[in-house]
Amino acid sequence: MATILAFLLFLSTFSTATAQPKHLNITIDSYISATTHPTSWSSPSGLFSFGFYREGAGFRVGIWLETSPNKTIVWTANQDDPPVSGNSTLVLLKNGFSLRTAGAQDKFLPSEFSSQYFLSSALMFDSGNLVLYYSDYENTWESFNYPTDTILGGQSLLTGNKLFSSESETNHSTGRFMLIMQEDGNLVLYPKDLDNTTSIDAYWAAATNQEESVSLHLYPDGFMYLVNDTGYNKNFLKRGAVANSGTVVYRATIDVDGIFRLYSHRFTRNSISTTMTEVSALPNKCKVNSICGFNSYCRLVDDKPNCLCLPGYNFTDPDHQVEGCSRNFTMEGCMVKKEHFKYFISTVEDVVFRENSYSTLPIAKDECGNACLNDCNCEAAMFQDGKCKKLVLPLIYGRSDGSDSAIFIKMGNESPVDANTNSSPNASKMPAVEIKKESRVKVLTAGIVLITTCLLASIAFSCFLIYRNRAQSSKKMTEDNNLSLSEEIVLRSFSYNELVKATDNFKEELGKGAFGTVYKGTLYNSNRTIAVKRLEKLIEEGEREFRAETRAIGRTHHRNLVRLLGFCDEGSSRLLVYEYMSNGSLANLLFRSQSRPDWKERVRFALDVARGIFYLHEDCEPHIIHCDIKPQNILMDGFWTAKISDFGLAKLLLPDQTRTFTGVRGTRGYLAPEWYRNIPISVKTDVYSYGIVLLEIICCRRYIELEVPDNEIVLTEWVYSCFMAGELHKLLGGEEVEGKILDRMVKVGLWCIQDEPALRPSMKNVIWMMEGNVDIPIPPSPISSMNIS
Ligand SMILES: *[C@@H]1O[C@H](CO)[C@@H](O)[C@H](O)[C@H]1NC(C)=O
Ligand SMILES: *[C@@H]1O[C@H](CO)[C@@H](O)[C@H](O)[C@H]1NC(C)=O
Repeated sequence: MATILAFLLFLSTFSTATAQPKHLNITIDSYISATTHPTSWSSPSGLFSFGFYREGAGFRVGIWLETSPNKTIVWTANQDDPPVSGNSTLVLLKNGFSLRTAGAQDKFLPSEFSSQYFLSSALMFDSGNLVLYYSDYENTWESFNYPTDTILGGQSLLTGNKLFSSESETNHSTGRFMLIMQEDGNLVLYPKDLDNTTSIDAYWAAATNQEESVSLHLYPDGFMYLVNDTGYNKNFLKRGAVANSGTVVYRATIDVDGIFRLYSHRFTRNSISTTMTEVSALPNKCKVNSICGFNSYCRLVDDKPNCLCLPGYNFTDPDHQVEGCSRNFTMEGCMVKKEHFKYFISTVEDVVFRENSYSTLPIAKDECGNACLNDCNCEAAMFQDGKCKKLVLPLIYGRSDGSDSAIFIKMGNESPVDANTNSSPNASKMPAVEIKKESRVKVLTAGIVLITTCLLASIAFSCFLIYRNRAQSSKKMTEDNNLSLSEEIVLRSFSYNELVKATDNFKEELGKGAFGTVYKGTLYNSNRTIAVKRLEKLIEEGEREFRAETRAIGRTHHRNLVRLLGFCDEGSSRLLVYEYMSNGSLANLLFRSQSRPDWKERVRFALDVARGIFYLHEDCEPHIIHCDIKPQNILMDGFWTAKISDFGLAKLLLPDQTRTFTGVRGTRGYLAPEWYRNIPISVKTDVYSYGIVLLEIICCRRYIELEVPDNEIVLTEWVYSCFMAGELHKLLGGEEVEGKILDRMVKVGLWCIQDEPALRPSMKNVIWMMEGNVDIPIPPSPISSMNIS
């Protein structure tokens, strides 16, 4: 950032700062107080003042323009500190302004002060710039270099710097929006609370990106330019012609409503001022992303943005409607289908949300609602630009946009009876007898549903088999020379002899799992390497159950799941044939290898695993609870893609049957507390195990490690204490990683391992949080919910 900019800055300083020392109006030891005169220091002409201004019941220190009837605040010191009491004073000492409040410690303003030199004096300039002079008279501190929400004529917003809107007109704490002078030369408005800003979150941009850094400069005459080092570059937000009368002060502010505006304040002789909005970055106040919170949308009423809840939703806090809306009914999603629980679709025309669809369909508008209704994962659908986009909550950036778009919201017509879903503390206080009765009814219903489903499934499957056999015999395809589409869909049935041959009589053992041993093998007519799992401890599982289960596994197709190629159920032998995973298990990689895998790779593994589980829980039909998620069951293929294996324990999750196991079958350490208590096993049980695995991936160590200091033995306790102490770096033993991502991963992990299943996020939310799409609240202590049950 070279000469010209420096020159401009020099100019702006020259016009103000170097015009000393005649007006050195703030001398060392002079002071003001919040309530007794003098309460501020004014610039020579009296246009600007620096001092105490009132906010609520207290006072802040800042700079304002003396407009009537109200002051216009243009800068605030330490704006995120609470306001101070009425008997505070501000005194200029040799090492800075000292704010003294009865009952509190003295505080230096500004806090970034360097004490390398002593101060000689300070001056409030007519430009609105407060300048502190060091005793060498060469160095200065200027408020112009630390803008809050406003830049004034003569002031710049340098590359990489931000302006933040205020919380409200009467609260100058940092608010909800920001303006960034980006490194790429673009000037962009975003909602403030983003982990990483992406173009989809931006709601306005000057569209000036030119791969070179520029600064935003507001000239005293009200023209705004982006300035690079070869001179001024682009004039934008052009103001109209101004009649040349009286004094005019220009300021550009990111307002409370998130819009960046240029204002003029005209002063006539009698100090009467008029304020005008010269230009506004966005005419439509509803176009500001996040102006309304989750699940609500913005509609203009008399040119004012108004936040409205979607049908079926109420304001989370009726006194703060901008904070969004929550569902006023329970949605069971794919987990439970109750006879008396019906959904329907409610339509809101002319509304769009942020496009974050998990599925986009090229169908007509009047079919879009039904497409959502028939998909148990779908919580809302948006019709936009001729496409139907299925969405999941939370819906954000909602606004009416005056187009042909529409939102279809899935709603329940009845609040479901809160059975023992253990989602509310009341449920666990219910007498045990009642719970049992409920479960029996559930089991009965489940039985009926199960039988019906099995019947239907086998009929459908048989039909498919017949169809396939015909198709195949007519095409005379050879079985496994190539991986044909049909092979992907239908499992191959192997004879026992074939597998004996393929594994050379079960010679090379790859590993031993809870249910049997895995052997390496080669299919003799294709040279394809396979892993053959010989199931040993089957608990009275008949042929039909085995086949049903195998089929369910065979139907799962996802890049993060180890693929089942076929099975053998000859006589008493039960074998499963899987694709071979050449790079071993995640456990070996994390706990046994010489050097820990690279951090970025680990983050990728964590996401891979999460996507695999998400697929099992929500995307495949019927849904599957894995029940034994652990690093030993996560395998690496030749391209280091992490895939979940061992569906040996996974049972089908049929409607109305959330508890599918009676005995404890997982692996200690990864087991959720509900295994030990009388609480139904649900998908949240896997979420718990995933949380433990995630923390192990982050820290590259096992859940229990004995060769460490006492407070580090149990991984979860250690992670939580480091998290609370803000010392997450300790977890990585010197490894350099991006703090934001680490923080995110740890928070997700801690949410997953909450004792109370209802507090754990769904896998969908886990993915959202890990990808940085939603804010992650601070997790409570994982065992804090223990006492509830
Ligand atoms: C100053 O503040 C202290 C502490 O808040 C309070 O006790 C005292 O009454 C205040 N004095 C005046 C003059 O307001
Ligand atoms: C001002 O806003 C901040 C941030 O939202 C909030 O924490 C604070 O309580 C508010 N102050 C007042 C006086 O309302």
